[in-house]
Amino acid sequence: DKGGYPFYMEKEIMEQPRVIGETVKPRIKDGKPDFTAEGIPDEMLASCRRICVIACGTAMHAGLVGKSLIQSLIGIHVDVVMASEFMYNDPIVDKTTLVIAISQSGETIDTLEALKFARKCGSPSISIVNVKGASIARASEYVIYTNAGPEIAVASTKAYTTQLAVLYLLTARMAIARKLWSDEQMKEYMEELQRVPAVMEEVLKSKEEIHHIADTMLNARDVFMIGRGLDYSILLEGSLKLKEISYIHSEAYASGELKHGTIALITEETPVIAVVTQDKLKSKELSNIKEVQSRGARVILLIKGQEELEQEKIWSRIFRLPVMKDEFMVMPVSIVLQLIAYYVSLDKGLDVDKPRNLAKVVTVE
Ligand code: M6R
Repeated sequence: DKGGYPFYMEKEIMEQPRVIGETVKPRIKDGKPDFTAEGIPDEMLASCRRICVIACGTAMHAGLVGKSLIQSLIGIHVDVVMASEFMYNDPIVDKTTLVIAISQSGETIDTLEALKFARKCGSPSISIVNVKGASIARASEYVIYTNAGPEIAVASTKAYTTQLAVLYLLTARMAIARKLWSDEQMKEYMEELQRVPAVMEEVLKSKEEIHHIADTMLNARDVFMIGRGLDYSILLEGSLKLKEISYIHSEAYASGELKHGTIALITEETPVIAVVTQDKLKSKELSNIKEVQSRGARVILLIKGQEELEQEKIWSRIFRLPVMKDEFMVMPVSIVLQLIAYYVSLDKGLDVDKPRNLAKVVTVE
């Protein structure tokens, strides 16, 4: 049942406010994150010296956001490793390394094998899985289920944002286990997390505006997506989404790295999506954007809030994102990027839910 939408992907995008709520709410007690039901001991979260996230594709991109959160808010070193590469790089994992395996299906063989390897090395483990009872859930010591419900479209949307929701909760639980935040800080963070569904609804109401932005990309051969820090992490996911279902070549690039070679590829024909949501990075991001504009690129700007911009006319499109604390801005941005990919694919007349060459579950290494 596609719920009246032409494709499952659109239905699943629209479901996000609800399923985020269903993932977060049962894990809040007295305003604090709580994993008693999962049995996760605080001792495990308090004692690890580093964290290693193993995952593939979209799930790995969720891990990158988790890395930013945990490093900046908890101060523990986090590596995010592509599961398919994990075992071939002589990984250094041991009982002081908490391994977090992330997988929607819970059946991705690369992730499963990497997890088993880490467990043999003595690492404690938590998996974040959507499908109940899946192999990865069974192979890990503890499991946190994302309550996204069945995800049918090959392109992952609600699984990704519910994985993020779990990572926000886990970060806050780590702060409790390690006695790091003040009551005030915890309260603000948890209130912001619970505001995510309403903020997502607000973005979803701008569907038609986002559809018009997608229209400007229909005939593009290449698209670039640029940003720094968390903005870069979310663009990696947005770019994968666009490639996967629209077959347009797209690259997410850290804006500061562009001028070390890749900017040579940017011409007047290249749409560039720039995301600017992190206060401390804003001035650098805006000056990197000027560099691509001076090569004639058409820049589509996704920016937090209503602040005035110099020369509004030089932007091909501007989308104003609702304001959240910087670390939560990936949530509204992800909806915009999912919808852009969706509308490009839809308007090209492609099979959005079943892109060529792809399977929902990858069970070969
Ligand atoms: O089921 P998993 O989360 O382990 O799957 C991992 C990737 O295959 C998956 O996220 C893939 O990248 C998606 N099709 C992206 O939309």
